[in-house]
Amino acid sequence: MSIGYEYHIFVCENLREPGDKRGSCGSHATTELRGYMKDLLREHGLKARCRANKAGCLNYCKLGPVLVIYPENTWYHFETQADIEEIVLSHIRDGIPVERLLLP
Ligand code: FES
Repeated sequence: MSIGYEYHIFVCENLREPGDKRGSCGSHATTELRGYMKDLLREHGLKARCRANKAGCLNYCKLGPVLVIYPENTWYHFETQADIEEIVLSHIRDGIPVERLLLP
């Protein structure tokens, strides 16, 4: 029996006070979007291969909301359920990075 996952996705859910100049990913519904991601992973039979974890600040607040996928160290900006769906289906299921959402 092998343990572990092929992919780990860390989604920033850090939430700062309103008005904080740094902003925060958590103010963009990232907790709900991660929930949607988990639903998609389950629906598409990817749950055993990929785990979507909550993360604190990943230090790219100005580019947020952000997530990172390991082991590739691929960083994405995302905003919508459509973005999350594309990341799950293209990157995780098909192994094709989503160019339009990659961080520079
Ligand atoms: S608050 Fe998300 S990267 Fe800092």
